[in-house]
Amino acid sequence: MRLLPALLTASFAALASARCGTRDPSERVHAQHKYFLEKEDREAARIAAARDVFDVTVDTYVHVVISNTTAGINATTLPSQIHEQIDVLNENYLGTGFQFNLVNVSYTHNDKWTAIMDGSTTEYEVKSTLRRGDYTALNLYFGTIGSGILGYATFPDTVTPREFLLDGVVCDPQSLPGGKAPYNLGITAVHETGHWLNLFHTFQPGNDDPAQPGCYGHGDYIHDTPAEAYAAFGCPASRDTCKGAVEANNTLSVPGPDPIHNFMDYTDDRCLTTFSAGQITRMQNSWREERVAYVPMGMRRRSPGGLLPDLKAELGLGLKGKIARPGSGW
Ligand SMILES: *[C@@H]1O[C@H](CO)[C@@H](O)[C@H](O)[C@H]1NC(C)=O
Ligand SMILES: *[C@@H]1O[C@H](CO)[C@@H](O)[C@H](O)[C@H]1NC(C)=O
Ligand SMILES: *[C@@H]1O[C@H](CO)[C@@H](O)[C@H](O)[C@H]1NC(C)=O
Ligand SMILES: *[C@@H]1O[C@H](CO)[C@@H](O)[C@H](O)[C@H]1NC(C)=O
Ligand SMILES: [Zn+2]
Repeated sequence: MRLLPALLTASFAALASARCGTRDPSERVHAQHKYFLEKEDREAARIAAARDVFDVTVDTYVHVVISNTTAGINATTLPSQIHEQIDVLNENYLGTGFQFNLVNVSYTHNDKWTAIMDGSTTEYEVKSTLRRGDYTALNLYFGTIGSGILGYATFPDTVTPREFLLDGVVCDPQSLPGGKAPYNLGITAVHETGHWLNLFHTFQPGNDDPAQPGCYGHGDYIHDTPAEAYAAFGCPASRDTCKGAVEANNTLSVPGPDPIHNFMDYTDDRCLTTFSAGQITRMQNSWREERVAYVPMGMRRRSPGGLLPDLKAELGLGLKGKIARPGSGW
């Protein structure tokens, strides 16, 4: 999640929570990551020897939501900015196995939809009206979120029908290519889509230590992103917030400077350039198990063995109430 420049004078705590509005992962989502990390460790040797070709094109539906108070929209340039945004996604996801195909753009003017805040009635109204496609379709909304928040996203999960409708990415129109510096290169959508594909922030807290919450513990559950105490802003060259024994003792991470160029940090658009190999593996595994394998109610017997047998066992989940059925946006 990312924050508008106007709020960069806010206190650090406010800033860190407002820049990306993606909510803290639930216990269940944490458990999924523990499951994936262990699975990926077991499979690492085999994968290195013979990696399947992963080549997925994600159907992408863009929805522009405009009210009488929406800032950052120029009707003349908007259509080309949206196409540039899809190009930016595709350029930056090159080498990840994911590409994005723009299926349709919808434009909605509604003066009541002034702020698409996470958890708000407006969010539900917007998404339940506009959402298209199944759980493998990316719905990318552009509209004002409020509180200086540049974007937020949902993680893949075993969703309820309501959560199915809420699935997707929301970005402020000022984060589009040609928007408001220093977040004007379309990287907010790259970051938020990373969450949608199941990535955590590189500085994801792994412990209760307020001074260095990201330095030890599970962090982002990805080995090859060096631990980072908290979010980075601007583009602070050779920043290194986790050092010494704390870092050396962290078996869930690798020593090294903070991953300020990683898309899942908070630095300026021009500073964010890369996903790590471990993140790419996590996105691909999550896609296979949590989005493609997602079977709506009434279709659940399609795959022998059912949905996510390992993960279900790991989490002790029953299927009851966990399977979404098509909603109005199906
Ligand atoms: C919108 O963009 C066009 C093309 O760049 C420009 O000529 C126009 O002045 C802009 N409109 C506003 C209100 O900024
Ligand atoms: C695109 O979405 C709009 C709004 O939902 C709809 O009216 C239009 O028919 C769609 N176009 C295509 C090509 O699907
Ligand atoms: C926007 O529209 C709403 C609803 O029609 C109205 O109450 C409000 O005064 C309008 N605000 C502005 C700034 O035009
Ligand atoms: C790191 O590990 C060593 C050896 O197990 C231990 O003695 C030391 O206290 C640990 N340091 C920290 C900061 O956890
Ligand atoms: Zn984020």
